[in-house]
Amino acid sequence: MSTRADAGRPAAVAKRAKGADGPAAAKGARAARPKSAQTAGPKPAPMSVTVLVPAAGSGSRMGGRVKKQFLLLDGLPVLAHTLRRFEDMPEVCEVIPVVPEAEMEECLEMCVDSQGLRKVRRVVPGGRERQDSVRNGLMAMEPPGGWVMVHDGVRPFVTREMVSALILALDGCDGAVLAVPAKDTLKEVGTDRLVRKTLDRRLLWHVQTPQAFPYRVIAEAFRKAYADGFYGTDEASLVERCGGSVRVVAGSYANIKITTPEDMILAEAILARLRGAEAAGKAG
Ligand code: C5P
Repeated sequence: MSTRADAGRPAAVAKRAKGADGPAAAKGARAARPKSAQTAGPKPAPMSVTVLVPAAGSGSRMGGRVKKQFLLLDGLPVLAHTLRRFEDMPEVCEVIPVVPEAEMEECLEMCVDSQGLRKVRRVVPGGRERQDSVRNGLMAMEPPGGWVMVHDGVRPFVTREMVSALILALDGCDGAVLAVPAKDTLKEVGTDRLVRKTLDRRLLWHVQTPQAFPYRVIAEAFRKAYADGFYGTDEASLVERCGGSVRVVAGSYANIKITTPEDMILAEAILARLRGAEAAGKAG
């Protein structure tokens, strides 16, 4: 089994300066440094979790000038909300955002250094498809190994409970994904807009992220997908086609993916509810 995806490293990986927290450090983050100076922070513990955060999409379904991962939610880019969530999770040793190449510096400044995030030590340029972006993240892992979680940059309401449940669910499986039961009836429809069949809703789940895998499993699944020219819309599908077993963990309807303008309204409401619950918890 290969331990590395088979293509070369992404062209540019912007790394934080050692111990730097401010925007000035971010500006210099692309400068070439000796390898030993490029990775700050503790070495990951064996079987610790690296979270890859694909956030390099164009956001065409959102419309507007600003990409959805950089839209402001309560004054902070959506991506910054997402990255911040992992900062306090002890299971997570490193978080690697994958962002549009032209916005790597902006991401470091606006979403990482301004928040003082210590677990983000590099940002990686995205690829054409989401799968290419995740592959770039996989190839940037130093050292590769342990568990990998992939989490959409535009899902800002991930919780520690979700991450812990996924780690538990990995026992005896090749992958674990969060999902919620389908609420609506789902139909398969032809390009002629005629219904082909009505699917059995009791068996249907909407799959979310994070999706979790042992590194060796996801690396091999990616190697095989690229060897076969296969593109999937999530990482689990790559593992499934290799015969891997993927377990579903009940997620939350609040773990939304911000995709269309209506989702921003929903996100504001969910954030307000979370803040209210936090405040009540502190007071109680
Ligand atoms: O397109 P979709 O909604 O499935 O995107 C999910 C996540 O994947 C988003 O955070 C998006 O920015 C990211 N993505 C990416 N690279 C691409 C396309 C999407 O990182 N080429």
